[in-house]
Amino acid sequence: MHSDIDQVLIHRSQIAQRVEQLAHEISRDLIDPVHADDGHSHIALVPILTGSLIFVADLIRHLPMRMQIRLISVSSYPDRATTSQGPNIRTPLDTLPDSLDDAHVLVIDDILDSGRTLQFVTDLLRAKNPRSLRTCVMLRKQRRDALSFPIDYFGFDIPDSFVVGYGLDYNNYYRNLPDIVTLRQEVFSTAKGLTA
Ligand code: IMP
Ligand code: MG
Repeated sequence: MHSDIDQVLIHRSQIAQRVEQLAHEISRDLIDPVHADDGHSHIALVPILTGSLIFVADLIRHLPMRMQIRLISVSSYPDRATTSQGPNIRTPLDTLPDSLDDAHVLVIDDILDSGRTLQFVTDLLRAKNPRSLRTCVMLRKQRRDALSFPIDYFGFDIPDSFVVGYGLDYNNYYRNLPDIVTLRQEVFSTAKGLTA
């Protein structure tokens, strides 16, 4: 697996530092609205699976407030695709309630690329009437559509290239790499899609 890496773009120590900063910003913004509602509202995190798995696990351990976690599973890069095929919801994994009208919702994804996934998920959540809706992604790609999509919290801007690690996959592999990396070109052209 490690011989497939081309470049380390973001090292695990930078990620850890940034996740802690993001958690502070998020806590600061979300604790007050819930207090103001005097116990009549709550915080609901909506991680978009599978890519946000590691990010959300790290982030929530720095968030001190009470919260629900409501999973949603969306896939736009089936199998070996490295360009978006359009978001598709995977219902069996979802734990969204019918209504979110007492909830301050924070949607969390691994990366903002074309913005189609977040557009799709935020539309779906808005239809459930949340008190507020915020968005958080670990990575934002440097492309026009990503940059124009409104995001409340993001970890890092990265070049417009395909990355894996820290939850992000290629053909469902490499999610367990602790750093965010690019892969060598041969990986995409080999029949198996990976070398070891
Ligand atoms: P969008 O809908 O084009 O914004 O794509 C977002 C989704 O595609 C993310 O939730 C990721 O799961 C996946 N994705 C986008 N870019 C990459 C990448 O560089 N590596 C791995 N997955 C990616
Ligand atoms: Mg995803």
